[in-house]
Amino acid sequence: MAALNELSAWKALSDHHKQIAPIHLRELFDKDPQRAEKFSVEAAGIFLDYSKNRITDETVKLLLQLAEESGVKARRDAMFAGEKINITEKRAVLHVALRAPKDEKILVDGEDVVPAVHEVLDKMAAFSDRVRSGEWKGHTGKPIKNIINIGIGGSDLGPVMAYEALKHYSDRAKIFRFVSNVDGADFVEATVDLNPDETLFIISSKTFTTLETMTNANSAREWALKGLGGDESAIAKHFVAVSTNSEKVKAFGIDTANMFGFWDWVGGRYSMDSAIGLSTMLAIGPENFRALLAGFHEIDEHFRTAPFEKNLPVLLGLLAVWYNDFFGAQTVAILPYENYLKRFPAYLQQLTMESNGKHVTLAGEHVNYDTGPIYWGEPGTNGQHSFYQLIHQGTRLIPADFIAFVKAITPLGRHHDILLANVFAQTEALAFGKTPEQVKAEGTPDWLVPHRVFEGNRPSNTILAEELDPKTLGKLVALYEHSVFTQGAIWQIDSFDQWGVELGKVLAQRILGEIEDAKAPLKHDSSTTALIERYRKLK
Ligand code: F6P
Repeated sequence: MAALNELSAWKALSDHHKQIAPIHLRELFDKDPQRAEKFSVEAAGIFLDYSKNRITDETVKLLLQLAEESGVKARRDAMFAGEKINITEKRAVLHVALRAPKDEKILVDGEDVVPAVHEVLDKMAAFSDRVRSGEWKGHTGKPIKNIINIGIGGSDLGPVMAYEALKHYSDRAKIFRFVSNVDGADFVEATVDLNPDETLFIISSKTFTTLETMTNANSAREWALKGLGGDESAIAKHFVAVSTNSEKVKAFGIDTANMFGFWDWVGGRYSMDSAIGLSTMLAIGPENFRALLAGFHEIDEHFRTAPFEKNLPVLLGLLAVWYNDFFGAQTVAILPYENYLKRFPAYLQQLTMESNGKHVTLAGEHVNYDTGPIYWGEPGTNGQHSFYQLIHQGTRLIPADFIAFVKAITPLGRHHDILLANVFAQTEALAFGKTPEQVKAEGTPDWLVPHRVFEGNRPSNTILAEELDPKTLGKLVALYEHSVFTQGAIWQIDSFDQWGVELGKVLAQRILGEIEDAKAPLKHDSSTTALIERYRKLK
């Protein structure tokens, strides 16, 4: 394929950007009374209003042409067909198989993977039922009250986000905690008030080799054994594993009968709907977990079959490329107006930045355009009293996704109307701002006018769904997964590897040896050597 910036749509978009850049959203809305209707789509119960973006019909036409010319369709079809599109790791990319219904067939190396997916789901459901009902007993005969997931990255962020998002649907008689950081404080704080005889650990690690997870898992083992009288047979009742590596699970001492498997074609950051979601299932129950999967699947089908001009993830992905590559926007703000989604921005950070933080193409050439933007955010309305100032009046362009729900899960007086009023007010203020004339007309003294002007022309998407339930959460996550896919396909990068995390891991192992053996010679740069020496001396 031709280099991205050699494609005719790319060149046309470059020229087109010069025309669009000086035009204000006020003018675009004034000129076209149909704009809101024209630039909004509803599918699978998700409504997307993208009219407050700096786009015209021509922009959308050219972006869709870019998707065509960059082969997004072929790459999407290759993913769904189980082709090994993660080329650097020679792996299929099949998180879509994790939510495929039983009667679907998806082949990897000639083998249908769907039956195995359902086998694991059934095993998870049977286990969850036993723990939730109290039938599963700990070593001293007590039912499990506390569930601690130990994992990091994709083996943590999805489970934490889903637990927080779906807390309302969870079993409130149980305590759920998540330990990820190798900083001992994380483990200590998670266990300080718990009894080992009522505690179940889920060791979640695709590889079962990750330093942080194995360190925490070993500390958990010691903590449990100490509290349970040192009897090794207690481990089987208090530890289960989620992994692709049965050898390592066995070596750790967990009975593989209590291991829930997944496969190398599930990337860590795409795994919250695999067995990595065991803590989610324990919290919300198998039926709700299946509803979550059904939500994912609905958007998968939409992404697979809807024409691109009505395809939610494709449109979101194209808009992200538009700002990233033509406006030079460096970040995207994710602003959920739903407190239960407080960990959603953090979850999306791994999903988007580990996927598209790449500087070489599939062919191994250095890109000469920008790839993955920085994702960040906080729930509204809190962010409004903190960083929104910069979005409204700073010098940087920050496209923002506002995510809101028509119904409150926990209605309380006027709260939800106030919350939603703020969503609409913010996107309106960002887009249309306030002119000097308007500010003056309010009687503002001349010297103060520039400070009180809102330039506006700040783009945003509004994603509106009915209510945050398990099914809707699945839809939302799949929406972003496929938007990330679309962006990566356009940038011609491998969105499914993560070599960028390796160097630090290797160096940390080496330095750990040097810290633990104070006599080990240090052969680093002068800064690193001095820091290690200082730590060795003072610790
Ligand atoms: O270091 C990055 C990473 O490999 C992520 O991609 C992954 O989600 C995380 O570490 C955890 O890996 P594992 O599940 O194998 O412990």
